[in-house]
Amino acid sequence: MTTEQTSVFRPGLFDGQVALITGGGSGIGRGIADLLASLGAHVVLASRKLERVEAAAAEIVATGGKASARAVDVRDTNLVRTMVTEVSASLGRIDLLVNNAAGNFYAPSETLSENAWKSVIEIDLYGTFFCSQAVLPVMKAQGGGSIVNISMTLHYRGWPLMAHATAAKAGIDALTKTLSLEWAKYRVRMNSVAPGPIPTEGVRKAFTPPPSADGVVDVFAIEKAMDGYAKTMIPLQRWGAPADIANMVAFLASPGGAWITGATMVVDGGEWLAKPPAPTR
Ligand code: HXC
Ligand code: NAP
Repeated sequence: MTTEQTSVFRPGLFDGQVALITGGGSGIGRGIADLLASLGAHVVLASRKLERVEAAAAEIVATGGKASARAVDVRDTNLVRTMVTEVSASLGRIDLLVNNAAGNFYAPSETLSENAWKSVIEIDLYGTFFCSQAVLPVMKAQGGGSIVNISMTLHYRGWPLMAHATAAKAGIDALTKTLSLEWAKYRVRMNSVAPGPIPTEGVRKAFTPPPSADGVVDVFAIEKAMDGYAKTMIPLQRWGAPADIANMVAFLASPGGAWITGATMVVDGGEWLAKPPAPTR
C-alpha cells in the first residue's frame, strides 16, 4: 500500500487491532482507514450506504489490508448497538473508534427548518455520543481503548451559515473533555482532531451553491471560490489532505499517544489562527 511506503509509523504498528471508523467509505474517513489498514489494523467501515463502505473495504482488501463493512445510521441507537455487538463478536475486540461521520451544509439560521437543524445535530453530536457509549463496554472488558472524534475549527470564532454544524462540533469538543475524564479509569482515552479545509467530495457537495434564478447550477463555482484561497489564507499554503488527519489519528491511537486524553489537536496548516474575523452581514 502506498501509505506504508511514505508512512512515519512502523510497519505492523496496529497488528491484531480492530478500528471502527464511521463514515469510513469516503473522504477523510477513507484516508484514516487506508493508513490504519496499511499499518496492520482490521478496519471496519460503517455508514448508511452499504454499497459505498463495501466497495471501500474491498479496495483495501485488494491491496493486502484487512477490512469489512457495516451499514449503520449513527443517529439510531439500536443500529449502533447492533453494529458494535456484531463487530466485537466477529472480531473479538474494538481498540479504536473514530467518530468521523457528519452531515453539513451552508444554510441561513433564520430559515433553517427544525428537521435540518436536527439532522446535523443528530448525525454529528448524538452520533458521536451513541457510538462512544456503545463501544465503552467492549473497551472496558478488554482493558482499554482509544476514541478519536473528528471535530472542526469553525466554532472557535463562529461561522455564519453554519449554526447547526458549529453547535454540534462545539458539543463534540465538550464531550471529548468530559468523557475523557469519566472514562480514564477504564484506560479508555478520548481525543479529537480538528481538521482545516480539505476538499473532499462531501465538502464539494455540501457547499455547492444552490441553482441561480434561471435554474442553472454552476458546478465550477466551488473551484472558482477556492482559487487562490490556499495561497493567501492558509499559512502553510496548501489544502489539507485526508492523510494529514489520518497521521494524527494514528499517532493518538498509537503507544505514542498513551498519555494524551481530553485533547483537541488542530491540523489545519495554521488556517484558523490566521483567518480574518467572519463577516457580520
Ligand atoms: C437548508 C437543508 C439543506 C440545505 C438539507 N436540508 N440540505 N436545508 N439548506 N442545503 C434540510 C432538508 O430540507 C430537510 O429538512 C433536512 O435538512 C434533512 O434533509 P434530508 O436530506 O432528509 O436528510 P438526510 O437524508 O438525513 O441527510 C442528512 C444531510 C445530508 C446532513 C442533510 O446533507 C447528508 O447526508 N450529508 C452527509 C455528507 C456531508 O454532509 N458531508 C459533508 C461533511 S463536510 P426538511 O425540513 O425539508 O425536512 C464538513 C466540513 C465542514 O463537515 C468544514 C468545511 C470547511
Ligand atoms: P464526507 O466524505 O461527506 O464524510 C461524511 C461521511 O459520513 C460519509 O462517509 C457518510 O457516509 C457518513 N455519514 C453521514 N451521515 C451518516 C449517518 N447518519 N450515519 C452514518 N454515517 C453517516 O466528508 P469529509 O470531508 O470526509 O468529512 C469527514 C469528517 O471531517 C466530518 O466529521 C467533517 O465534519 C470533518 N471535517 C471535514 C472538513 C473538510 O474540510 N473536509 C473540515 C473540518 C471537519 P454515508 O452517506 O454512506 O452515510
